[in-house]
Amino acid sequence: MEAREATGTQSRTERADFQATADPALMEDADRTADVKLLSYKELYLLWERQQWQTQELDFSRDREDWNERISPEERFQRMHGLSSFFIGEQKVAEELGPIMRAASTEDQRIFLCTQIADEARHVRFFERFYREVGVLESDGLSEMLEETSQHLNENFGRLFDEMLKKRTDRLSAEPEDTEALVEAVTLYHMVIEGMLALTGQHFIMDFNEREGTLPAFVEGFQNVARDEHRHVAFGSVFLRDKVREDERYKQSIQRILEEALPVADEVLSPPWAPEDDDDWELFGYSLADTRKFAGTCLMRRLKVIGLQ
Ligand SMILES: [Fe+2]
Ligand SMILES: [Fe+2]
Repeated sequence: MEAREATGTQSRTERADFQATADPALMEDADRTADVKLLSYKELYLLWERQQWQTQELDFSRDREDWNERISPEERFQRMHGLSSFFIGEQKVAEELGPIMRAASTEDQRIFLCTQIADEARHVRFFERFYREVGVLESDGLSEMLEETSQHLNENFGRLFDEMLKKRTDRLSAEPEDTEALVEAVTLYHMVIEGMLALTGQHFIMDFNEREGTLPAFVEGFQNVARDEHRHVAFGSVFLRDKVREDERYKQSIQRILEEALPVADEVLSPPWAPEDDDDWELFGYSLADTRKFAGTCLMRRLKVIGLQ
């Protein structure tokens, strides 16, 4: 798997930084050994300082033309499914991260998670700006926009975020010292939602736009979002590896939540209009089997590094 950001316009330092995000999914070595170097919480913080970007710098004028003149109404509807999942997903994760941050056990972990809350807020604004500048939705305010776009989601999305994730973060708000709930929350948030769903969706959405030559400012911003997500997943990987090394029982917590979440996550990967049990069914030139294979390989590499395989 190639790092999508390691292309053309970036400087050598930026490319090296991207490779250095320490997300095990970007390391081929992780197929063979669990003993790969991960960045520490402090190093991940320093990387965050070097990887800042601004939503206000993106110029969406070409994207506006593409969306309204080059992309057909039917394709716009299909694209809205993927984009809406991201827009709403970013807003939900930004809000659920507070209890996880407060429950984390060390100052270095909490400081990194504070940077992640800022990132998730920026991701929400990035989508809001894209939707507004390109004219995807009519609504004025951010909450009205989120309301309008939520009609494009499937019910498994709600189960994953509003039931499974919220149950853990509510628990952590009441009992921040419940480390098993913390391990479950980080597995669900960093490994399943960000690692499997977000990074898989991003990979295919960016690939499709680059192939078609559409939405250049969106792609530029989304590459920055993906770079941030790899850094977040790198945090989740080092955090879970530390926990498993600290106490074997956390392995069971990780396995338990994965068993519960993976079937739901798998359903989230396919749009509501996809036929059931047809892995060859394609959307934008990729089959559901391609999507599942990509998500599965990334997850396996990360789990191996954490110490689960
Ligand atoms: Fe995000
Ligand atoms: Fe994230």
